[in-house]
Amino acid sequence: MIAPIERTLASLRTQTALWRKAGETIGVVPTMGALHQGHLSLARAARAECDRVIVTIFVNPKQFNDPDDLKNYPRTEEDDARKLESTGVDLIYVPDPEQIYPDGFATNVSVGGLTDMLCGASRPGHFDGVATVVSKLFLQTAADFAFFGEKDYQQLQIVRRMAADLDIPIEVVGCPTIREEDGLAMSSRNLLLSDRSRVYAPVLAEVMEEMRAQLLDGAALSEIVGDAQARVLAAGFNEIDYLELRDGRDLSLLDRAKPEARLFAAAWLAGVRLIDNMAV
Ligand code: PAJ
Repeated sequence: MIAPIERTLASLRTQTALWRKAGETIGVVPTMGALHQGHLSLARAARAECDRVIVTIFVNPKQFNDPDDLKNYPRTEEDDARKLESTGVDLIYVPDPEQIYPDGFATNVSVGGLTDMLCGASRPGHFDGVATVVSKLFLQTAADFAFFGEKDYQQLQIVRRMAADLDIPIEVVGCPTIREEDGLAMSSRNLLLSDRSRVYAPVLAEVMEEMRAQLLDGAALSEIVGDAQARVLAAGFNEIDYLELRDGRDLSLLDRAKPEARLFAAAWLAGVRLIDNMAV
Protein backbone atom coordinates (compact mmCIF):
# COMPACT_ATOMS: atom_id res chain seq x y z
CA MET A 1 0.00 0.00 0.00
CA ILE A 2 1.26 3.48 -0.84
CA ALA A 3 1.71 5.42 2.39
CA PRO A 4 -0.48 8.50 2.91
CA ILE A 5 1.12 11.81 1.91
CA GLU A 6 0.67 14.78 4.26
CA ARG A 7 1.46 18.30 3.08
CA THR A 8 0.77 20.48 6.11
CA LEU A 9 2.28 20.64 9.57
CA ALA A 10 -1.22 20.48 11.10
CA SER A 11 -2.07 17.19 9.36
CA LEU A 12 1.36 15.76 10.21
CA ARG A 13 0.88 16.61 13.87
CA THR A 14 -2.63 15.15 13.97
CA GLN A 15 -1.10 11.82 12.98
CA THR A 16 2.01 11.95 15.17
CA ALA A 17 -0.07 12.94 18.21
CA LEU A 18 -2.07 9.69 17.87
CA TRP A 19 1.12 7.65 17.63
CA ARG A 20 2.64 9.37 20.65
CA LYS A 21 -0.54 8.80 22.65
CA ALA A 22 -0.27 5.09 21.85
CA GLY A 23 3.33 5.14 23.17
CA GLU A 24 4.84 4.41 19.74
CA THR A 25 8.36 5.51 18.75
CA ILE A 26 8.80 7.56 15.59
CA GLY A 27 11.71 7.50 13.13
CA VAL A 28 12.24 10.14 10.46
CA VAL A 29 14.21 9.92 7.21
CA PRO A 30 14.72 13.40 5.72
CA THR A 31 15.22 13.42 1.93
CA MET A 32 14.95 15.67 -1.09
CA GLY A 33 13.27 12.94 -3.14
CA ALA A 34 14.41 11.30 -6.40
CA LEU A 35 14.70 8.27 -4.18
CA HIS A 36 17.14 5.44 -4.85
CA GLN A 37 18.31 2.36 -2.93
CA GLY A 38 20.45 4.55 -0.65
CA HIS A 39 17.34 6.38 0.60
CA LEU A 40 15.37 3.14 0.79
CA SER A 41 18.09 1.58 2.98
CA LEU A 42 17.54 4.42 5.47
CA ALA A 43 13.77 3.82 5.41
CA ARG A 44 14.40 0.11 6.09
CA ALA A 45 16.78 0.89 8.93
CA ALA A 46 14.10 3.14 10.43
CA ARG A 47 11.45 0.44 9.89
CA ALA A 48 13.63 -2.05 11.82
CA GLU A 49 14.17 0.27 14.76
CA CYS A 50 10.95 2.31 15.18
CA ASP A 51 7.23 1.65 15.54
CA ARG A 52 6.37 4.38 13.03
CA VAL A 53 8.38 5.74 10.12
CA ILE A 54 8.06 9.10 8.38
CA VAL A 55 9.97 9.86 5.17
CA THR A 56 10.12 13.57 4.36
CA ILE A 57 10.57 14.87 0.81
CA PHE A 58 11.43 18.55 0.47
CA VAL A 59 13.78 20.12 -2.06
CA ASN A 60 15.16 22.73 0.28
CA PRO A 61 15.90 25.98 -1.59
CA LYS A 62 18.04 27.33 1.29
CA GLN A 63 20.76 24.71 0.78
CA PHE A 64 21.30 25.34 -2.95
CA ASN A 65 24.00 27.83 -3.92
CA ASP A 66 23.21 27.69 -7.59
CA PRO A 67 19.69 28.57 -8.87
CA ASP A 68 20.19 26.23 -11.87
CA ASP A 69 21.08 23.35 -9.56
CA LEU A 70 17.84 23.96 -7.66
CA LYS A 71 15.84 24.21 -10.88
CA ASN A 72 17.38 21.03 -12.34
CA TYR A 73 17.12 18.97 -9.16
CA PRO A 74 15.05 15.89 -10.07
CA ARG A 75 11.47 15.88 -8.74
CA THR A 76 9.76 12.50 -8.93
CA GLU A 77 7.13 12.44 -6.18
CA GLU A 78 4.83 9.75 -7.60
CA ASP A 79 7.71 7.38 -8.31
CA ASP A 80 9.13 8.10 -4.87
CA ALA A 81 5.87 7.19 -3.14
CA ARG A 82 5.73 3.94 -5.13
CA LYS A 83 9.35 3.07 -4.30
CA LEU A 84 8.65 3.54 -0.61
CA GLU A 85 5.83 0.95 -0.71
CA SER A 86 8.22 -1.97 -0.24
CA THR A 87 9.84 -0.39 2.83
CA GLY A 88 6.59 -0.20 4.83
CA VAL A 89 6.84 3.47 5.83
CA ASP A 90 3.77 4.86 7.59
CA LEU A 91 3.66 8.41 6.27
CA ILE A 92 5.30 10.57 3.61
CA TYR A 93 5.59 14.23 4.56
CA VAL A 94 5.90 16.49 1.51
CA PRO A 95 5.50 19.90 3.09
CA ASP A 96 4.17 22.75 0.98
CA PRO A 97 6.99 25.33 0.91
CA GLU A 98 5.14 27.73 3.24
CA GLN A 99 5.00 24.99 5.88
CA ILE A 100 8.80 25.24 6.11
CA TYR A 101 9.45 28.86 5.15
CA PRO A 102 6.31 30.91 5.87
CA ASP A 103 6.26 34.63 5.04
CA GLY A 104 8.56 36.46 7.38
CA PHE A 105 10.72 33.43 8.16
CA ALA A 106 13.96 34.91 9.53
CA THR A 107 15.85 32.26 11.49
CA ASN A 108 19.12 30.67 10.44
CA VAL A 109 20.67 27.65 12.16
CA SER A 110 24.43 27.81 11.68
CA VAL A 111 26.81 25.17 13.05
CA GLY A 112 30.34 26.47 13.56
CA GLY A 113 33.65 24.80 12.71
CA LEU A 114 32.50 21.61 10.98
CA THR A 115 30.88 23.68 8.22
CA ASP A 116 33.93 25.66 7.05
CA MET A 117 35.80 22.84 5.30
CA LEU A 118 35.15 20.22 2.58
CA CYS A 119 31.75 20.94 0.96
CA GLY A 120 31.30 24.00 3.19
CA ALA A 121 34.33 25.71 1.64
CA SER A 122 33.01 25.54 -1.92
CA ARG A 123 29.29 25.87 -1.09
CA PRO A 124 28.92 28.90 1.20
CA GLY A 125 25.66 28.83 3.17
CA HIS A 126 24.88 25.26 2.11
CA PHE A 127 25.19 23.72 5.58
CA ASP A 128 23.27 26.59 7.22
CA GLY A 129 20.45 25.68 4.83
CA VAL A 130 20.76 22.01 5.79
CA ALA A 131 20.94 22.67 9.56
CA THR A 132 17.96 25.04 9.36
CA VAL A 133 15.67 22.68 7.46
CA VAL A 134 16.74 19.60 9.41
CA SER A 135 16.12 21.30 12.77
CA LYS A 136 12.64 22.27 11.50
CA LEU A 137 11.95 18.71 10.31
CA PHE A 138 13.11 17.31 13.67
CA LEU A 139 10.79 19.66 15.54
CA GLN A 140 7.86 19.26 13.15
CA THR A 141 7.95 15.46 13.24
CA ALA A 142 9.01 15.25 16.93
CA ALA A 143 10.71 11.98 15.97
CA ASP A 144 12.73 9.90 18.45
CA PHE A 145 15.23 8.71 15.82
CA ALA A 146 16.55 10.22 12.60
CA PHE A 147 18.37 8.27 9.89
CA PHE A 148 21.10 9.80 7.73
CA GLY A 149 23.52 8.31 5.20
CA GLU A 150 27.29 8.26 5.62
CA LYS A 151 27.34 9.18 1.91
CA ASP A 152 27.01 12.77 3.15
CA TYR A 153 29.35 12.26 6.06
CA GLN A 154 30.01 15.92 6.81
CA GLN A 155 26.25 16.57 6.85
CA LEU A 156 25.79 13.65 9.27
CA GLN A 157 28.37 15.10 11.69
CA ILE A 158 26.86 18.60 11.42
CA VAL A 159 23.34 17.29 12.10
CA ARG A 160 24.62 15.37 15.15
CA ARG A 161 26.29 18.53 16.48
CA MET A 162 23.19 20.65 15.82
CA ALA A 163 20.79 18.23 17.58
CA ALA A 164 23.14 17.95 20.58
CA ASP A 165 23.75 21.71 20.81
CA LEU A 166 20.03 22.56 20.59
CA ASP A 167 18.96 19.76 22.98
CA ILE A 168 16.60 18.30 20.40
CA PRO A 169 15.63 14.95 21.94
CA ILE A 170 16.38 12.79 18.91
CA GLU A 171 18.97 10.09 18.28
CA VAL A 172 20.80 10.57 14.96
CA VAL A 173 21.66 7.22 13.37
CA GLY A 174 24.32 7.01 10.62
CA CYS A 175 23.84 4.34 7.91
CA PRO A 176 26.41 2.95 5.40
CA THR A 177 26.74 4.27 1.84
CA ILE A 178 24.91 2.16 -0.74
CA ARG A 179 26.77 1.80 -4.06
CA GLU A 180 26.01 0.76 -7.61
CA GLU A 181 27.62 -2.52 -8.72
CA ASP A 182 30.52 -0.61 -10.27
CA GLY A 183 31.24 1.18 -6.98
CA LEU A 184 29.65 4.56 -7.76
CA ALA A 185 27.96 5.87 -4.61
CA MET A 186 24.22 6.16 -5.28
CA SER A 187 23.03 9.75 -5.51
CA SER A 188 20.00 11.57 -6.90
CA ARG A 189 22.49 13.64 -8.91
CA ASN A 190 23.64 10.53 -10.81
CA LEU A 191 20.41 10.93 -12.82
CA LEU A 192 21.90 14.12 -14.26
CA LEU A 193 24.94 12.31 -15.74
CA SER A 194 24.98 11.66 -19.48
CA ASP A 195 25.47 8.02 -20.55
CA ARG A 196 29.07 8.86 -21.39
CA SER A 197 29.79 10.55 -18.04
CA ARG A 198 28.10 7.69 -16.20
CA VAL A 199 30.80 5.35 -17.59
CA TYR A 200 33.61 7.43 -16.02
CA ALA A 201 31.87 8.33 -12.76
CA PRO A 202 33.00 5.18 -10.84
CA VAL A 203 36.66 6.15 -11.30
CA LEU A 204 36.40 8.48 -8.31
CA ALA A 205 35.52 5.62 -5.92
CA GLU A 206 38.04 3.34 -7.66
CA VAL A 207 40.88 5.81 -7.10
CA MET A 208 39.78 6.31 -3.48
CA GLU A 209 39.84 2.52 -2.90
CA GLU A 210 43.40 2.42 -4.22
CA MET A 211 44.39 5.35 -2.03
CA ARG A 212 42.90 3.54 0.95
CA ALA A 213 45.06 0.47 0.21
CA GLN A 214 48.18 2.66 -0.14
CA LEU A 215 47.44 4.53 3.09
CA LEU A 216 46.95 1.24 4.92
CA ASP A 217 50.33 0.13 3.52
CA GLY A 218 51.87 3.11 5.29
CA ALA A 219 51.95 5.75 2.54
CA ALA A 220 51.31 9.38 3.48
CA LEU A 221 48.48 11.20 1.69
CA SER A 222 50.89 13.90 0.56
CA GLU A 223 52.94 11.24 -1.30
CA ILE A 224 50.01 9.75 -3.23
CA VAL A 225 47.45 12.52 -3.71
CA GLY A 226 49.09 14.06 -6.80
CA ASP A 227 48.91 10.80 -8.78
CA ALA A 228 45.38 10.14 -7.56
CA GLN A 229 44.16 13.57 -8.69
CA ALA A 230 45.84 13.10 -12.07
CA ARG A 231 44.00 9.78 -12.55
CA VAL A 232 40.63 11.29 -11.69
CA LEU A 233 41.18 14.16 -14.14
CA ALA A 234 42.50 11.80 -16.84
CA ALA A 235 39.24 9.82 -16.56
CA GLY A 236 37.30 12.89 -17.70
CA PHE A 237 36.49 14.74 -14.46
CA ASN A 238 36.84 18.49 -15.03
CA GLU A 239 37.82 19.67 -11.59
CA ILE A 240 38.51 18.32 -8.11
CA ASP A 241 37.09 20.38 -5.24
CA TYR A 242 38.92 18.31 -2.63
CA LEU A 243 40.55 14.95 -2.08
CA GLU A 244 41.54 14.81 1.58
CA LEU A 245 42.14 12.55 4.55
CA ARG A 246 40.40 13.69 7.73
CA ASP A 247 39.50 12.51 11.20
CA GLY A 248 35.91 11.23 11.00
CA ARG A 249 34.99 12.75 14.36
CA ASP A 250 36.10 16.40 14.18
CA LEU A 251 37.01 16.45 10.46
CA SER A 252 40.53 17.73 11.19
CA LEU A 253 43.11 17.11 8.43
CA LEU A 254 45.36 14.03 8.55
CA ASP A 255 48.26 12.85 6.44
CA ARG A 256 48.37 9.21 7.53
CA ALA A 257 45.89 6.42 8.23
CA LYS A 258 44.64 5.94 11.78
CA PRO A 259 41.55 4.24 13.21
CA GLU A 260 39.15 7.20 12.72
CA ALA A 261 40.58 8.34 9.36
CA ARG A 262 38.31 8.83 6.32
CA LEU A 263 39.01 9.86 2.75
CA PHE A 264 36.75 12.61 1.39
CA ALA A 265 36.35 13.65 -2.24
CA ALA A 266 34.26 16.02 -4.34
CA ALA A 267 34.77 16.41 -8.07
CA TRP A 268 32.96 17.80 -11.10
CA LEU A 269 32.07 15.56 -14.04
CA ALA A 270 30.47 17.36 -17.01
CA GLY A 271 28.66 19.90 -14.84
CA VAL A 272 27.62 17.43 -12.11
CA ARG A 273 29.28 17.57 -8.70
CA LEU A 274 29.87 14.11 -7.22
CA ILE A 275 30.96 13.46 -3.63
CA ASP A 276 32.16 10.34 -1.88
CA ASN A 277 33.91 9.31 1.33
CA MET A 278 35.14 6.10 2.91
CA ALA A 279 36.71 4.90 6.13
CA VAL A 280 40.40 4.06 5.82
P1 PAJ B 1 19.27 13.71 -0.03
O1 PAJ B 1 20.45 13.99 -0.87
O2 PAJ B 1 17.97 13.36 -0.69
O3 PAJ B 1 19.66 12.55 0.94
C1 PAJ B 1 18.77 12.12 1.93
C2 PAJ B 1 19.48 11.10 2.82
O4 PAJ B 1 19.87 9.98 2.04
C3 PAJ B 1 20.77 11.69 3.43
O5 PAJ B 1 20.87 11.28 4.78
C4 PAJ B 1 21.84 11.05 2.57
O6 PAJ B 1 23.09 10.92 3.23
C5 PAJ B 1 21.22 9.70 2.29
N1 PAJ B 1 21.85 9.07 1.12
C6 PAJ B 1 22.01 9.61 -0.12
N2 PAJ B 1 22.69 8.75 -0.91
C7 PAJ B 1 22.96 7.66 -0.16
C8 PAJ B 1 23.65 6.42 -0.40
N3 PAJ B 1 24.18 6.14 -1.59
N4 PAJ B 1 23.73 5.53 0.60
C9 PAJ B 1 23.18 5.79 1.83
N5 PAJ B 1 22.53 6.94 2.12
C10 PAJ B 1 22.42 7.86 1.14
O7 PAJ B 1 20.87 14.94 2.16
C11 PAJ B 1 19.84 15.51 1.81
O8 PAJ B 1 18.95 14.97 0.92
C12 PAJ B 1 19.43 16.86 2.35
O9 PAJ B 1 20.58 17.62 2.63
C13 PAJ B 1 18.52 16.78 3.61
C14 PAJ B 1 19.24 16.09 4.78
C15 PAJ B 1 17.23 16.05 3.27
C16 PAJ B 1 18.15 18.21 4.06
O10 PAJ B 1 17.51 18.90 3.07
